[in-house]
Amino acid sequence: MTLIILGHPNYENSLANKTIIDELQASDLSVEVRNISQLYPHYQIDTVEEQAALLRHQNIVFQYPLYWYNMPAILKQWFDQVLEYGFAYGSAGDKLKGKNFIPSFTVGAPEAEYQTLGEHHFRVYEFCKNLEQTAYYTGMNYVEPFYFYGTSLNAGYTELEVRSKAKNQAQELILKLRQFE
Ligand SMILES: Cc1cc2nc3c(=O)[nH]c(=O)nc-3n(C[C@H](O)[C@H](O)[C@H](O)COP(=O)(O)O)c2cc1C
Repeated sequence: MTLIILGHPNYENSLANKTIIDELQASDLSVEVRNISQLYPHYQIDTVEEQAALLRHQNIVFQYPLYWYNMPAILKQWFDQVLEYGFAYGSAGDKLKGKNFIPSFTVGAPEAEYQTLGEHHFRVYEFCKNLEQTAYYTGMNYVEPFYFYGTSLNAGYTELEVRSKAKNQAQELILKLRQFE
């Protein structure tokens, strides 16, 4: 029912995203996790396999760490290849129509920095417009992104804090996914 496209180039050292994935896998939801960095270390994405995975599910979660105000390159590559003409868009490209598009990511910096006068100036949702329009263009149902701030341990957050915020995010995501069941 739920496909999780996990785009994390350094998952071995992940705390936030790994906690979210572990929590989802420990839930009673049926989830298929595709760790695309592990599947495609050389960015040679198997479009046919990925499209087949999309066809198996109604809910598509994109799970990733925010990199340069965006998704990591492996996930962008996945979008560029998998959402092709005739599949995801174009007159006959209706295969994703009606599926739920659910971004879930983690933000290194604290919330206070994502303000006009803060270091990152813009609110996080302003960096999500491309996701929203991608969902509309493919006929998918855009779900407001799930995210939390302050994952960077070198910014002074403790492992315990990050783990607890990550678990909260996973629980909120699980609630949303249950609504779609
Ligand atoms: C290449 C790179 C770019 C990053 N860019 C951002 C960014 O634009 N904004 C931000 O708040 N954090 C940024 N970060 C911090 C990551 O978002 C943070 O490390 C991640 O959320 C932690 O998740 P994890 O514990 O699953 O690895 C960046 C980290 C890396 C390695």
